[in-house]
Amino acid sequence: MKFQTITGTKDILPSESPLWQHVEKTARSVFERFGYREIRTPIFEDTNLFLRGIGETTDIVGKEMYTFKPSPESDESLTLRPEMTASVMRAYLQHSLGAQSPVVKVYYISELFRKERPQKGRYRQFWQFGAECIGSSLPEADAEVIAMMMMIYDELGIKNTMLKLNSLGDIETRKRYRAILQDYLRPHFDKLDSVSKERFEKNPLRILDSKNPDLKELIENAPRILDHLDETSQAHFETVKSYLDEFGVKYVIDHRLVRGLDYYTRTAFELVSADLGAQDALGGGGRYDGLAEQLGAEKEISAVGFASGVERLLIAMQSANLIANIQPKKPDVMLVSQSPAARGWIMKVANEWRKAGLAVETDLLARSLKAQLREANRLGATYAVIVGEYELQTGKFQLKNLLTSEQKEIQQENLLNEIRKQNRSIVLTKN
Ligand code: HAM
Repeated sequence: MKFQTITGTKDILPSESPLWQHVEKTARSVFERFGYREIRTPIFEDTNLFLRGIGETTDIVGKEMYTFKPSPESDESLTLRPEMTASVMRAYLQHSLGAQSPVVKVYYISELFRKERPQKGRYRQFWQFGAECIGSSLPEADAEVIAMMMMIYDELGIKNTMLKLNSLGDIETRKRYRAILQDYLRPHFDKLDSVSKERFEKNPLRILDSKNPDLKELIENAPRILDHLDETSQAHFETVKSYLDEFGVKYVIDHRLVRGLDYYTRTAFELVSADLGAQDALGGGGRYDGLAEQLGAEKEISAVGFASGVERLLIAMQSANLIANIQPKKPDVMLVSQSPAARGWIMKVANEWRKAGLAVETDLLARSLKAQLREANRLGATYAVIVGEYELQTGKFQLKNLLTSEQKEIQQENLLNEIRKQNRSIVLTKN
């Protein structure tokens, strides 16, 4: 085959979509219980939104964005969104959502684009579900966002995870700590690897994120941001932790957790899974009180949120054997035709029954009776109704239960109700 998916992208095939839908449905259900409403934003935005929002010194902005001009002579620069938080804040400001509601709570299930080196759990086009709570500076908002994220994983049956928690303090704390960290690292500059050397001036906090074993000891002994928090951030962090304790959400404090985006202030968190390989972060987020001003707002707008990678979640679910019982929806009935006249009747009745809520299969290949029944079994239909001349003339039909092999004669007018009694699709939607 000449054309293939581009490296780092993948098809989600019909066989996989029930699993995706299950994840999305679970996430939506939890989001809605917390009062979050869906937001959808364009896939591409003005490049400056991400430069300003995510930070020019981050890996994402520095080397991972898909940036293009709308036409060769244009001065405009557009970028495929590498994350949702900046887009959501742009939408919040553009539409003055804060004027409609003092706290705006939105969620999204979106595809993102990052030009990263593809490997297991790391793609160039990937999906996130996530949420942003805009308008509250209270630690209650942070605690609720974290609890909401954990509830989704919990309802999906994900175990073997660890929630890492840190506080980066306010913008002043970050500035102060940046200088303290640089002072600590400066005498060891020669020992740093090339990536960390590059980060030393641009973004020294990210050096703490290094996975290089040669730097482990140096990083371990580095001054901790938690020891340098401003008083308000300290109290904020204590309250977030005490709510999490109350909710029974377990966490570990990780003073090295700085996250790869520049907009975080105060709370930062990440959920890692032991069921993933090197790319072990299932999701993460934090508070970003400075982002709105960074994007041109006149005053600070407090906000906190998280996002979770769907592909990584599915890898974790697969390795924990959580996907075996997620099945595609099966037909309630297959109408099997024995003659051209029967086919006409089937077309009409199938359409009516589908309107009435049943999942009805018909044969679109004019196959033999045997082949149609084989197909009904392959699809996992509950019932088959064989329709021939006799049935059409008498109005009496054999309703064959393919799961139990029982067969009953039913009058035409009672068929729909009889099938409904066993209707798995109706039972499913009720749940
Ligand atoms: P992030 O940590 O960059 O945060 O991404 C969140 C999650 O998206 C990661 O933990 C991971 O599961 C998934 N992810 C990221 N990059 C890839 C990739 N290349 N392939 C597959 N999955 C990936 C954010 O995006 C922030 N906007 C989160 C946030 C929301 N903070 C506040 N509000």
